[in-house]
Order: sequence, then C-alpha cells, then structure tokens
Amino acid sequence: MSDNNLEDLFAHNRAWSAQMERDRPGFFTSLVKQQTPRYMWIGCSDSRVPANQITGLEPGEVFVHRNVANIVVHSDLNALSAIQFAVEHLKVEHIMVVGHYGCAGVKAALSGKRIGLADNWIRHIQDVRDRHSVMIESLPEEVRVDALCELNVAEQVVNVAVSTVMVDAWARGQKVQIHGWTFGVHDGLLQDLGLSVDGAKPLDTAYKAAVQRIRYKWSKPAGAALASPSAQAGADGTEGTAK
Ligand code: CO
Repeated sequence: MSDNNLEDLFAHNRAWSAQMERDRPGFFTSLVKQQTPRYMWIGCSDSRVPANQITGLEPGEVFVHRNVANIVVHSDLNALSAIQFAVEHLKVEHIMVVGHYGCAGVKAALSGKRIGLADNWIRHIQDVRDRHSVMIESLPEEVRVDALCELNVAEQVVNVAVSTVMVDAWARGQKVQIHGWTFGVHDGLLQDLGLSVDGAKPLDTAYKAAVQRIRYKWSKPAGAALASPSAQAGADGTEGTAK
C-alpha cells in the first residue's frame, strides 16, 4: 500500500515537471545556472505551512529553513548556516520569520505537556512564555496560544537580528530586513506583525512596541475578540497587512 503511495508521488512529480516545461520551456535549464531568491523564509516544519504555495513563489524564489516551531537558537549551526548562506552568498533582501496559529510546538510549550525529545527544543518557547508570563496570564485562556505564537515570532526576529551574520551584514552596509509574520491555518492568510528590523532603527524599541501590540490585540474582552471575523483571522489590533 505504501509503495503505491510513493509511486503516486513520482507520477505527480513527472506530470509537474512536464507541465512546467510545457508552460515555460527552458524553466529547469535556467534554474540549473543559479538561484537568485530575494527572500528567506524561516518557518515551522508543520505540513500545513508550505512557504512557496502560501506566497505564490516559484522554485528559485525563496530560500527556506524550517524546524519545529520556527525557532532560531543562538548556537544552532543549522539555522545560522542557512541564514549566512542566504545573506552572504544569495544576498537575500528580506528574511521572514513565520509562525502559525495553532502550532503544536507552541501549544506544548504553553501547557508544559511532555512530548518527548522535542521538549528540549520547545524549552526555548517556554523561555519566551516565562519572559512574558505576567502578560500571558492576564489574557483570556483561549487566546494564550495564539498570543504566544506571536511572541515567539517577535523573539525569533530578535534572535536572527543579533546573530553575527546579521550584525556583520549590516556593518558592511548590506540591505537586509527581517520581518515577523504569522500564518493562519484556518484561513490561509499571512499577517504582518509590524515588526521589521533593518539594523538602522533600535532593535529593542521595535521589539518592545511589537510586544505591546500583541498584548493590546489579545487583551480585548474574549467575547468581542471571538465575535469579530478579523479576530478569527488574528488581524485586529495590528497595523500590518496580509502579504
Ligand atoms: Co508549528
């Protein structure tokens, strides 16, 4: 049975390749020569959050790093190597850290539920939870996971920004911006958390403002927040727009 399923993947792949070549003759030959993505996506490994499909980007247009709960750990050579390659060699102009609502990693971090080895990875989000525990505990219980999802994004934007890769890039005068976004699995829409850093403006101020916006957004009365369609999309209270 599983063999058949895997055969399907190859069949779909052959059909996709043929269709691409029919629509855009020479597409793959031009890809072989170089990749020149303008964007780097740092997102969750969750199968419901595929970077290219969500943004309508094609092969060659976005450099992707994904892990459980889109975390950038100061000493994670995997993430740092990907960021360095993207910034120094591919010269991407935008790095987006993209969290998603209903993230299992964030849920586990919030509840403290043990899920296995990943507990040690998720511990980084518990650090975020603990740093903002007063705010999180002041929020209605049903919005805490979504709020922590956004706080985690803000935290990881800072972690990218303070990496030696970014510090050096900005010192050289390279133009690269880091953005904090979220994705709604329930509606397929991206939200901009309004936290964009470029090495010029003070990072701490931008981070604190983002945290304040997150607090304001989720601390509305639970009934009002849940009744609003935009709240369902996680959009109210932020000035960012989708995409
Ligand atoms: Co996730």
